[in-house]
Amino acid sequence: MKIYSYKFLLVSGLMAIGSVAFSQSPLYKNKSASIPSRVQDLLKRMTLEEKVLQLSQLSFGNNTNANNIGNKVKNIPAGIGSLIYNSDNPVYRNQMQKKAMEETRLGIPILFGNDVIHGLRTVYPISLAQACSWNPQLVQQACAMAAKESKLAGIDWTFSPMIDVARDGRWGRISEGYGEDPYTNAVFGVASVKGYQGNHLSDSFSIAACLKHYVGYGASEGGRDYSYTEISQQTLWDTYLPPFEACVKAGAATLMSSFNDISGVPSSANHYTLTEILKDKWKHQGFVVSDWNAVEQLINQGVAANRKEAGYKAFNAGVDMDMVDKIYIENMPQLLAEKKITQAKIDDAVSRVLHLKFQLGLFDKPFATVLEENERVLLPASRKLAQDLASESIVLLKNKQQMLPIKSNIKSVALIGPMVKDRSNIMGSWAFDSKDEDAETIWEGFGKVFANQVAFNYAKGCDFDSTDESGFQAGIEQANQSDLVIVCLGEKKKWSGENGSRSTLALPAIQEKLVMELKKSGKPIVLVLSSGRPLELVRLEPLADAIVNLWQPGVQGGSALADIVKGNVNPSGKLAVTFPLTTGQIPTYYNMRPNSRTNTQGNYKDISTAPLYWFGHGLSYTTYQYDSVKISATKVKKNEKIVAEVTVSNTGKVSGKETVLWFISNPACSISRPMKELKYFEKKEIAAGGKATYKFEIDPMRDLSFVDATGKKFLESGSYFLLVGGQKVKIEIE
Ligand code: BGC
Repeated sequence: MKIYSYKFLLVSGLMAIGSVAFSQSPLYKNKSASIPSRVQDLLKRMTLEEKVLQLSQLSFGNNTNANNIGNKVKNIPAGIGSLIYNSDNPVYRNQMQKKAMEETRLGIPILFGNDVIHGLRTVYPISLAQACSWNPQLVQQACAMAAKESKLAGIDWTFSPMIDVARDGRWGRISEGYGEDPYTNAVFGVASVKGYQGNHLSDSFSIAACLKHYVGYGASEGGRDYSYTEISQQTLWDTYLPPFEACVKAGAATLMSSFNDISGVPSSANHYTLTEILKDKWKHQGFVVSDWNAVEQLINQGVAANRKEAGYKAFNAGVDMDMVDKIYIENMPQLLAEKKITQAKIDDAVSRVLHLKFQLGLFDKPFATVLEENERVLLPASRKLAQDLASESIVLLKNKQQMLPIKSNIKSVALIGPMVKDRSNIMGSWAFDSKDEDAETIWEGFGKVFANQVAFNYAKGCDFDSTDESGFQAGIEQANQSDLVIVCLGEKKKWSGENGSRSTLALPAIQEKLVMELKKSGKPIVLVLSSGRPLELVRLEPLADAIVNLWQPGVQGGSALADIVKGNVNPSGKLAVTFPLTTGQIPTYYNMRPNSRTNTQGNYKDISTAPLYWFGHGLSYTTYQYDSVKISATKVKKNEKIVAEVTVSNTGKVSGKETVLWFISNPACSISRPMKELKYFEKKEIAAGGKATYKFEIDPMRDLSFVDATGKKFLESGSYFLLVGGQKVKIEIE
């Protein structure tokens, strides 16, 4: 997005108004005029009531999200600024847009937003899974495809990506982001923004992105949703803000203020984060929308006595648009009269909203193109992308004695568990516009991929969560008749996502018990896990010969999994989030700060202190050998770059995709730093017997520096370490 200063907008606007004073059609309707001049021309013509409506968003249409039941066309004011569009039918949008264009004085188009989180009708894997692919290019393509489907459904704006760093798997929304690491969230956030927004917001299939939830929502206490967050200024700057800064720099059009209270100042009333950092320091020119009812919730959070006070606190802090609670509509004129808010601030907020509408080309093309459903959703290319992304997101957690891919002596396989024939939970949360029949089940995927080469026996065994063990016997019988048992377990989709917190990362006891019973058959056991969070596998892991983490893979999950089990695809996913050994270890994440005592001091007395699977863990069907790291210099000045290279050989029999993760550490600094910090990663395909060289160009100021509690970046002289593939290389900064 182009950056214009408010002064520039004003001056160019005034000049432009002068020059068209006598022309018939207003300047804001002139397609060839500049956007700032069109914004200013329109702003000058608007009444206060019209402006206030532009700063308000209501919900429209219906979907299956109980949170989000919208109004009908007749109940929505024609001049509303934006609508949450709960439909994937462009005709419905166009009906509402017609009302806006024809029944308002100025004909300002409505901006239609929707939660296109991991696809619209073509559901891709959940974002947490996408991060495990370590393939931002593929994620960008999936987001571009989702944008196209959305645009053709009448959606101009998605409330995505979610780039909340999350380190507590109990928090259901961990599924919506890219895991525990700030850099990973930044890279995948930027890829999503680029995918959604394309080269220009005005392109036919671009939609505007919305970074959420700004900021610190991932620190929800106890993993409970909507709860308080205790975040020091230092942690705010070094952990929660970096992904937002990167995505703002990449041109993200909007942000959403979050539900959490940051150490006493709720995000939606936080002048420091919304105005001083976002608008003043980072110079973001787009707008901020509150989260659903977040303005009103300032009352619950204890910083506003009533709706009116909540309204001016949020607005003065920097929330430009109010989502659904109508507080701005009801209170803004009065607040202005009482001088609690200023006209200049209203104009600034309205300019930001109008600016995006012009950028998206809504004034010139307010209506969505209407195509038949089969011409715009679930096209073969989208399904292919969904499958590719699912394949790369799957993480092989354990593979004892190369149990997978299954060998030719396996003639019959028992597919047991509540996930085998599931076509709803496999989609994950935030798939409200999807249809269950669009999804491929695991059962169907195996049937398709294996054709008739293997006989599959099925039993559900048990439900996701119940005490009814009556299905166990059928499962045991199928296991007894088969050469191999694949147990497909997991979570229901409502167990993660918004308002989807759980107190434990363990699967319900009945699912664990099913595996214990099946183990008695003596057959090898492959566990397939589908979840929206890292799981506690302390009891299940010892029972399994292999464990495949499928996540919630979306519409093509069945085939993606079957291809991996058969060996058509070599797994290449690596965890973007640590799997603790037990829930009691939370928080545990790779980038923790060091303890004051080393060795075993401070460890738990009852269990191991190490998690079961660290961030970055993921197995392959081949083996990789890392050569020694080559480095262009080991001692440099702060402004000198260093090139590090590592050659990786594929020493196995099948080709594979290996992601090299480059970490740094800085053991002595004036502010203690994480023990390891990911700074770069790259994924490459390496043929069997082949090699590939991975390169990391280290810019010390960018890659070795740190940030203080005021957001100031600094780079100290001293020793740093580069960590890659088990190697540790010292770098001296003079
Ligand atoms: C969620 C947001 C979402 C919004 C609109 C809220 O409840 O927290 O993530 O974008 O609703 O549906």
